[in-house]
Amino acid sequence: MSGAAVLASVRDLCVVYRRGGRDVRALRGVSVDLTRGRVTALVGESGSGKSTLGLALVGLLPHNARVERGAVSFEGRELRGEELWREVRGSGIAWQPQDALAALDPLMNVLDAVAEGPCFADGLAPMVAQARARTALERAGFACDDPALLRFPHGLSGGQRLRVAFAAAIAREPRVLIADEPTAALDAPLALRTTALLRDLAERGSAVLWITHDLALAAHAAHEIAVIYAGRIVEIGAARQVVATPRHPYTALLLAVARSYEPAPAATMRAESGCAFRGRCPLARVSCATSEPELVELAGGRKVACPFHAEVRVP
Ligand SMILES: Nc1ncnc2c1ncn2[C@@H]1O[C@H](COP(=O)(O)OP(=O)(O)OP(=O)(O)O)[C@@H](O)[C@H]1O
Ligand SMILES: [Mg+2]
Repeated sequence: MSGAAVLASVRDLCVVYRRGGRDVRALRGVSVDLTRGRVTALVGESGSGKSTLGLALVGLLPHNARVERGAVSFEGRELRGEELWREVRGSGIAWQPQDALAALDPLMNVLDAVAEGPCFADGLAPMVAQARARTALERAGFACDDPALLRFPHGLSGGQRLRVAFAAAIAREPRVLIADEPTAALDAPLALRTTALLRDLAERGSAVLWITHDLALAAHAAHEIAVIYAGRIVEIGAARQVVATPRHPYTALLLAVARSYEPAPAATMRAESGCAFRGRCPLARVSCATSEPELVELAGGRKVACPFHAEVRVP
């Protein structure tokens, strides 16, 4: 395979949750490739569908979710059926859930919890798995004699739990890592350390999907940025390009928010037809109400779902 090998991908994925007798469309036709050697940041506001995409990629959608359309593939093989998912989760894809406490076994101390994957899923001898766990925990910022290593999850701070869950994911040395908000509760030095580890994993040949709501951090540390809004990718491209010259008005809004530290204007109800962003968009016009824009490729390989992309300016 070439250096740009796609290790995991989703194609035209539509996921619907059933809640209170109603359907909630969480993903509406999402396609993303995760490529060897690259960190792809998935950026968007709360409720935009980031975790749903991560869960779909690892086959862990909850029971009230259904895949209406689309497919997930790992190393060229389309994944269908729990058995195949289990095999892939055991051998190639690691997942760090957003809720670190739920991810950790309450009856295992930190060291054992991180060694569990390398030992049971990867079949390493217990001593080797423990050594792998110690290395991963050190890389996640724990000193080798940190008393936290022998504590149970409920005795850890939120940031410590997050770092333990992250260490558990990287200890597997997965070919694909899906990390859901691994930096969310961390101070700046620890967040930067975590992003350096994501890049390090990619440099050693893995593909990484890094879910984050922090566009400024993504600009700093990801190779590629995919911006998701209301269950659709609205812009995707090289991180530097997307941040230097955003071409979707939502990306421009996120950038303005990241620069000013002002909160984003409150989300209005998503429009039922046409462009979902039009209620918040400074460029919206009548035609935006009739059809939902498709992703179109621009110069440099970036794709954007806005016909008025040439007019986009960071406010
Ligand atoms: N288990 C569930 N049952 C019903 N609806 C759900 C469920 N999980 C998510 N949703 C809905 O699906 C949509 C996408 O949610 P998702 O958790 O993927 O967003 P997110 O981008 O990860 O948000 P956050 O940044 O807050 O983590 C939201 O409207 C959410 O309310
Ligand atoms: Mg989430």
